[in-house]
Amino acid sequence: MKILAIESSCDDTAAAVVEDGREVLSSVVASQVPEHILYGGVVPEIASRRHCESISSVVKKAIEDARLSLEDIDAVACTYAPGLIGALLVGVNFAKGLSYRTGKPLVPVHHLRSHIASNYITDKNLKPPFLALVVSGGHTHLINVKSYTDYEVIGRTRDDAAGEAMDKAARTMGLAYPGGLNMDKVAFDGDPFSYKFPSPKVQDAELDFSFSGLKTAVINLIHNLNQKGEEIDVKNIGASYMHCVVSCLCDRTERAINMLKPDSLVLAGGVSANSVLRREMKILADKHEINLYMPELRFCGDNAAMVGAQAYYEYLDGNIASLKLNATAALDIDKKSNI
Ligand code: KG4
Ligand code: ZN
Repeated sequence: MKILAIESSCDDTAAAVVEDGREVLSSVVASQVPEHILYGGVVPEIASRRHCESISSVVKKAIEDARLSLEDIDAVACTYAPGLIGALLVGVNFAKGLSYRTGKPLVPVHHLRSHIASNYITDKNLKPPFLALVVSGGHTHLINVKSYTDYEVIGRTRDDAAGEAMDKAARTMGLAYPGGLNMDKVAFDGDPFSYKFPSPKVQDAELDFSFSGLKTAVINLIHNLNQKGEEIDVKNIGASYMHCVVSCLCDRTERAINMLKPDSLVLAGGVSANSVLRREMKILADKHEINLYMPELRFCGDNAAMVGAQAYYEYLDGNIASLKLNATAALDIDKKSNI
């Protein structure tokens, strides 16, 4: 089954064709990063406008790259939640138009479900159940993935997401958007023990995360150094900060491993590209003698191939939307669209 998938939840306009949830026939991503760099982060209104401008050509290219025509597509899928509402609406409405025009089923896909599914295209043998750590710009979740469409969130951030905390700290250090990615580039070989930051804890919720205190600590440190006219040691501060964020992610993940005793651990979301996180997760998985799955780097950030992968399993589960489908800015991963 060939699914044409569309992703527009944030600042990437993406389309892909994926066969049977595993084989990527094409994947096109039009990034808006160069424009959002000017503002230090994603400007929602600009993102929506750029999606409108590029979606036709991105979808056309995805079909052409797969050497198919629209008639060869068996279903149309789109990210419908969660994300920037104006941005999501562009992809949802384009997908609805295609579904109407072709008469092919419309499959709604939750953004975090698709991030997890990026592992199904990277490793064709991966099957639920497994434990997933989803770390993106807007979410940090530990999830018991019971089946392709059945999820139990067992831990979540109480405030900032890991990616958001990295982006804001990086911006204060003078690094360009996207901060997490640039911090990784600048600081991956810095000294992770050169600066001390608080180790964030959440009372009475041993699998939950909290990053806002850590973020404030690094921002205060940089403001202090700036006020004293001292140089900002971006490499070592960045390395120490990344070490703290990753330690916190590993600590909660290890508790979840001890609790669930899974056979496999799956990493997903934009932050799964982080070099320190990938290294430390490997050490953790080896320690507990469990399999570790991480997306190929090109499928860590937002893309439509992961949407096409998840859409196949949503379709098999009967999750097909009517043309009344609407975008939703916030929606838990275990909820379905009411369409
Ligand atoms: O999943 P994603 O592409 O978009 C959302 O769904 O939010 O994640 C974007 C986040 C941003 O915060 C970005 O800074 C972060 O992923 N990111 C990284 C790296 N690459 C992207 N964070 C740390 N290290 C990286 N290498
Ligand atoms: Zn994402």
